[in-house]
Amino acid sequence: MANYRLINFKTLGDERGSLIAIEQGYNTPFEIKRVYYIFETKAEVERGFHAHINLKQMAIAVKGSCTFVLDNGKKREEIKLTNPNQGLFIQGLIWREMKDFSTDCVLIVLASEHYNEGDYIRNYDEFLKEVENAKK
Ligand code: TYD
Repeated sequence: MANYRLINFKTLGDERGSLIAIEQGYNTPFEIKRVYYIFETKAEVERGFHAHINLKQMAIAVKGSCTFVLDNGKKREEIKLTNPNQGLFIQGLIWREMKDFSTDCVLIVLASEHYNEGDYIRNYDEFLKEVENAKK
């Protein structure tokens, strides 16, 4: 299975406005143990610059927009999140960077594990070594 993909959420709406429900197992392919959100990001700030060993995540720009740079050790791809009806699912060894936050951006992230600094790879060369090791 691909290590990342965009998931489209069904928008439930009526004349009052829009609503999206995210339910574990239906439109999020993991058990949600943690939710965090990034907001009021200053202009020109770039965040992330890490990979995870075990964590699965789903990132949703519920307001505004931002761009994810996703790197599997071989190629880098940019995915811009612009719509609250799209979630970016990431699992496995993917180096991620986030940039181009709009001033109003609220990025919610659903995570499969509690916060654990030990699950982070924060050094790019170490990340490349982990990618090589995973192939063996
Ligand atoms: P950091 O990993 O630097 O954020 P990003 O990858 O988005 O650039 O996290 C910022 C700080 O918040 C850092 O001290 C770790 C802490 N933190 C938690 O305590 N819990 C969490 O769930 C997350 C994501 C971060």
